[in-house]
Amino acid sequence: MVLAVVPPPVTVRVPAKVNLHLAVGDVRPDGYHDLVTVFQALSLVDEVTVAVADEPGVEVHGEGADQVPTGASNLAWRAVQLLAAHVGRDADDPKVRVVIRKAIPVAGGMAGGSADAAAALVGLSSLWRLDISRDELAELAGKLGADVPFALYGATALGTGRGERIVPVLGRHQFHWVLAFDRRGLSTPDVFDELDRLRAEGDPPRVGEVEAVLEGLSSGDPRQLALLLGNDLQAAAVSLRPNLRRTLRAGVDAGALAGIVSGSGPTTAFLCEDGDAAVKVAAELAGAGVCRTVRVAHGPVPGARVITTEEPK
Ligand code: C5P
Repeated sequence: MVLAVVPPPVTVRVPAKVNLHLAVGDVRPDGYHDLVTVFQALSLVDEVTVAVADEPGVEVHGEGADQVPTGASNLAWRAVQLLAAHVGRDADDPKVRVVIRKAIPVAGGMAGGSADAAAALVGLSSLWRLDISRDELAELAGKLGADVPFALYGATALGTGRGERIVPVLGRHQFHWVLAFDRRGLSTPDVFDELDRLRAEGDPPRVGEVEAVLEGLSSGDPRQLALLLGNDLQAAAVSLRPNLRRTLRAGVDAGALAGIVSGSGPTTAFLCEDGDAAVKVAAELAGAGVCRTVRVAHGPVPGARVITTEEPK
């Protein structure tokens, strides 16, 4: 008799992102907006474990876990089903359990759900020993959501199209950030809709050219980069959450070089001079009563990668 060997569970670490530059173009026939964006992956990470299991499903623990669906709408679960179908396995019964340990805020504008989906793709390709390249995974990732491919690659990258077309931006400089989590999340479609509404009513300011941001990054000087950070979704996020104006001011008053809304918000991200400055800004911001909690992070960091493959029991 031949016994099937059950492969050991695989754990993947995956980063949050901040958009250093987010230029939102026109709405497209598919409902998405054309973007030109610069992503940076930060050292605020979720961990996703995938394991062979008779009882398939998703478990979520940690930051905001009670707001994450665990059923068929969970994006990491959709990633499992998509990859299963792609390699000819049973997508309705993939015999996999996914455990997500969250540190990235839910509905926070840091692509936490997208990160978990990217991690599920990487974890499963290791668990199932698939011979599949990162570029092939990125094709699948783009079907799951605009931010999913970036979470696979991490580091710093230029995103175009819906944000899913990724070109790496080379650079060896580390930047130091403080992140302020708001009390509740914001829905990304609501923020894009609000921007469309603001643009129909008037002409909210638009971010400058992406080239300047790329030069700021390559200089490695956080003071230069701070002047160039910009996000077209910021006006919309602030319009839906006016308290963010106070948070943004408080971060700069606490000594940050600049503050922006991260993606569609409501998380705010503050660029600091160095690691020590970030710790000081975080402490002061935490005491200012303008947000739920603060985190210190640095970037760029790598994208989704396997950190453990446990030995079989
Ligand atoms: O791709 P994802 O599911 O993360 O996008 C969530 C929503 O954000 C989309 O349904 C759309 O309303 C909005 N969006 C957009 N343009 C983009 C990315 C997202 O309008 N480039």
